[in-house]
Amino acid sequence: MAIDERFLDELMNRLDMVDVVGRYCKLEKRGNRWWGCCPFHNEKTPSFTVDPEKKMFYCFGCKEGGGIISFVEKTEKLEFPDAVSLLARMVGMDVPTDEREKSIYKRRTRLLALNKEAARFFHSNLEKEISAPARDYMARRQISRKMVIRFGLGYAPDQWDGLIKAMVAKGFDKGELLDAGLAVKSEKGHIYDRFRNRLIFPIIDVSGNVLGFGGRVLDDSLPKYLNSPESYVYHKANHLFAMNLAKNSTAPQFILAEGYMDVLMLHQAGFDNAVASLGTALTPEQADLIKKRKGEVVVAYDSDEAGQKATERAIELLRARDIKIKILKMKGAKDPDEYIKKYGSDAFRLLLSGSENSSDYRLEKIRAKYDITDDEQKLAFLNEAITLVSTFKNSIEVEIYIGKLAEITGIRRETIEGEVKKSLKRQRRQNERREMRENTNPEKNAQPSFTRIRYQNVTLARAAEGILSLLAHNPELKGLVEERIKPEDLGEEALIHLYGEICAAIDNGIYPNPDTMTDKLTADERKLLAMILANTPDGSPKLLVLDYLGVVAMESAKSKAKVDAKGLEELIAMKRNDTRYGNGRNGSNE
Ligand code: GTP
Ligand code: MN
Repeated sequence: MAIDERFLDELMNRLDMVDVVGRYCKLEKRGNRWWGCCPFHNEKTPSFTVDPEKKMFYCFGCKEGGGIISFVEKTEKLEFPDAVSLLARMVGMDVPTDEREKSIYKRRTRLLALNKEAARFFHSNLEKEISAPARDYMARRQISRKMVIRFGLGYAPDQWDGLIKAMVAKGFDKGELLDAGLAVKSEKGHIYDRFRNRLIFPIIDVSGNVLGFGGRVLDDSLPKYLNSPESYVYHKANHLFAMNLAKNSTAPQFILAEGYMDVLMLHQAGFDNAVASLGTALTPEQADLIKKRKGEVVVAYDSDEAGQKATERAIELLRARDIKIKILKMKGAKDPDEYIKKYGSDAFRLLLSGSENSSDYRLEKIRAKYDITDDEQKLAFLNEAITLVSTFKNSIEVEIYIGKLAEITGIRRETIEGEVKKSLKRQRRQNERREMRENTNPEKNAQPSFTRIRYQNVTLARAAEGILSLLAHNPELKGLVEERIKPEDLGEEALIHLYGEICAAIDNGIYPNPDTMTDKLTADERKLLAMILANTPDGSPKLLVLDYLGVVAMESAKSKAKVDAKGLEELIAMKRNDTRYGNGRNGSNE
């Protein structure tokens, strides 16, 4: 939801950031900033700061940063608009509703309205004669009527323009159907329905918006599923299927499955906490979505190779967020849907209660590789297992696993304990060495490694960051900057984008805070902006910015020269191949 940035700016001006943040953690004033222990990661010495002037918080430890709205979003586990409402209430402001005429917002609203109508159309088809094949299919897969309604399932008729006709009659145009990914254009320019003769699963977000659809064939033809493409409203990495239902579950954890059908059958069997990552590996955004609501996940991915790979990846992402993970091992079935149909929901419940934690799962995977009745292999197993155990952060967990290893191998507990200690020391030394290397490697240090953004040219990027920071705090420098460099001189896509948005904010007379730009920046760009704004270089802004502008001019000239030089080298190489070696030179079978 796009909220007018002027309103957000005004809201931030009226709020006392220190007062609001101070309700969540103790702050102490030092210099221009207030310091405290970070509420987003564990620490004993304060590295979390609030800058009331900039209306920003930033943690030098975990690099979490943003405005007061992000802060409330994170601590109160609210969606952005709800955090805005909460803060607005504190200062007696009303979130404007008539300001929503902005073009992106309008386009999104249209697409969401279209998606909702499309979902209604697909769903209502199930009442009609033409949907007989879909009803047969659902009966075969034992989908109950209750689930058809709860999930809003539907049917896309076996026609080229069934949906298009119905939506045009409702006042939508074909361009909008293309934008929403509901229609596709052939090479010859014909526009036709994307989903034909398929069972339809609407993908709905936590606020009840229909973002897109998945469509399953009714037989064995391929592709098995068609999914909505990315659109103004649908970014598949940001959502989990059925989170709109599962978020209301009273269960202490989520069940994470792979497919639509698994989630559907899980809900039907009474597990209303199931969600799916829909064929993609779990993304950081999806892990955040989980973290926002519950502290535990049972991973119930398919038991095939791909599912196991995806499980490893999910373990990593969830562990990094301190989410408790259990892994479900389904013997005799490939996925939860099949398991429940074969053995019933009580069997699945049993499986759930006994599901392995991620450490057991990892240990078991190692064990399966070796035959421990063979002494040599037993040793190899122990080595690998000890390395694993020594990565555990929790000392009680380490204790437990030392016991388990002793039991499995029949080797004395004390011996294993000694080996774990040695391995711990070794790892610590390795980490120290690595840290040392990283700390003394400016190249690596300059990367915004708290995001997925990676700079090509760190010298250039550093200077660009400096310019952006100075510009944001000293809007009067804008003319000077624009005079000397072009946006593309900044080199990095993210920095060019931030530059554009900072300039736009200045033109609108708004302080460029990541919170007023939620609709224009990606999550990574917002984080990067928070870091840039928090790290303003000390000194005369004008002199500093001139310095940085010089660096940018030089670096961008260098990289242009490099491109030219490369072109020249290629040209020379080509000529050499032509004249001296002829065509045979690249022949590979000589
Ligand atoms: P059923 O075969 O109906 O039981 O489906 P499922 O829910 O078990 O799905 P499956 O495990 O086969 O695949 C997991 C998810 O991957 C699906 O829900 C889809 O989102 C996605 N997927 C599967 N097949 C395809 C495909 O052919 N194309 C695309 N784009 N996605 C697919
Ligand atoms: Mn399946």
